[in-house]
Amino acid sequence: MRFTVLTLFPEMIYGATDHSIFKRGLEQGHLQLDCVNIRDFSGNKHNQVDDYPYGGGFGMVMKAQPIYDAYQHALSKRPSTQKNPRFIYLTPAGKPLTQAIANELANEEALFLLCGHYEGVDERVIEEIVTDEISIGDYVLTGGELAALVLMDCVARLVPGVLGKEGSFADESFMSGLLEYPQYTRPAEVLGRSVPDILLSGDHGAVEKWRREQSLQRTQSRRPDLL
Ligand code: 6GU
Repeated sequence: MRFTVLTLFPEMIYGATDHSIFKRGLEQGHLQLDCVNIRDFSGNKHNQVDDYPYGGGFGMVMKAQPIYDAYQHALSKRPSTQKNPRFIYLTPAGKPLTQAIANELANEEALFLLCGHYEGVDERVIEEIVTDEISIGDYVLTGGELAALVLMDCVARLVPGVLGKEGSFADESFMSGLLEYPQYTRPAEVLGRSVPDILLSGDHGAVEKWRREQSLQRTQSRRPDLL
């Protein structure tokens, strides 16, 4: 999976992906990541990438031309087999990200992501190049970078090879449609609390049943909308 991120803050993207599983995925060649700094394509000597909104109102709008030129530049550097990748604009006005969407995106060979800032992006460049508009939830961030990172993390762990031996993610929250059951590790007693006896019983059938019940109870009380 090759991610190409169009952003005004490439260091946010590189900084957050230089750790843990995502980093290992890059090192092992399961993932590739390129950032394109939109400001490098401003086309003017003040490096201006935003301007006042037509019709008036608060804030600034990102200009279409620098984003379009950054996109053309990134496209021109790719193998011809990857000419029409999905292009995702991260915006609170997009479709909410779900596990089902992440599963679908993980089947792509390459994804482009556009991180907005200020009060938004000129609609015409969105019409021209964007295939999907995605939000990561019903709250407002200062920019699209953290949202792009959330989406990439969620997709990256579904790419074959990225999770390696931690790859048994089938029973995690949202894969089964239920929330995850509680986990315990050594010691058997800590902070004055014991591990539930059933987990020490060695009875795998009973453990499975207990975990399923815990998942159901949690989902019922915390996320009844999932049931
Ligand atoms: Cl994708 N962008 C911004 N700025 N805020 C958000 C978001 C995206 N998703 C939820 N809030």
